[in-house]
Amino acid sequence: MQQPKVYSFPNADQVAQALDKFLAQASAEAIKQHGRFSVAFSGGSLPATAAKYLKDNKSVDFGKWFVFFSDERCVEHTDAESNYKLVKDELLSHVPIPDNQVIRISESLVNDSKLAAEDYDLQMSKALGCDIVNQPPAFDCILLGIGPDGHTCSLFPGHPQVEEKSKWVTFIDDSPKPPASRITLTIPVLNQAKNVVFVVTGGSKSDTVKLIVDGRDQALPAAHVAPSEGGLYWFLDDATAKYLTVN
Ligand code: 6PG
Repeated sequence: MQQPKVYSFPNADQVAQALDKFLAQASAEAIKQHGRFSVAFSGGSLPATAAKYLKDNKSVDFGKWFVFFSDERCVEHTDAESNYKLVKDELLSHVPIPDNQVIRISESLVNDSKLAAEDYDLQMSKALGCDIVNQPPAFDCILLGIGPDGHTCSLFPGHPQVEEKSKWVTFIDDSPKPPASRITLTIPVLNQAKNVVFVVTGGSKSDTVKLIVDGRDQALPAAHVAPSEGGLYWFLDDATAKYLTVN
């Protein structure tokens, strides 16, 4: 596992600028290497930060992007709680990513999180064009946030989904963060990615980030994210990075 690279910027706007540059470069490299860029978005504040400059970046070949969701709430695509809706409003409605290259939860299954997770796993393997039965898919980039409790995706402290090793997508019906029912990528998938990028701003999680980056406190799900061969990056504002040694 590579050492995490921790980058800190004076404010969230400069985090957004740096993330735009990172994603433009990572997608260009992936497209050059294998003809497409597979990226998974988390919800929360991440889509707005990631899209702020990216949506106007004319150097990016969005036609070759395949967009997935690190986790998703079991709600309709038009629901205010939908991560798909959030990413659509912030990015997808501004850039030319073909709709059939945006892999979203099946609306017909939002009332059965177990089936929704199984269906998403099938959609993922079909879209990535690989046999992922025996090994997790290798996303080019997975974008993650963290909660104050150290959760990431919809993997929460003390919940069994954190330990899931044989499924690439699982479900939760008692999420401590509402809404209760969600589907989520699992740790094996996060650790198979070529690039995992945590984006944390605002200063309220500086203690949690310190425990994860320096202490690797395994009680915190985000501390389980350790890509076996890929890069692990933290894009932080100074308020969040105040207890860390940064690159
Ligand atoms: C979700 C998110 C979740 C989020 C963190 C951080 O669907 O709720 O994927 O994991 O990334 O809770 O959210 P904020 O960045 O808004 O604090």
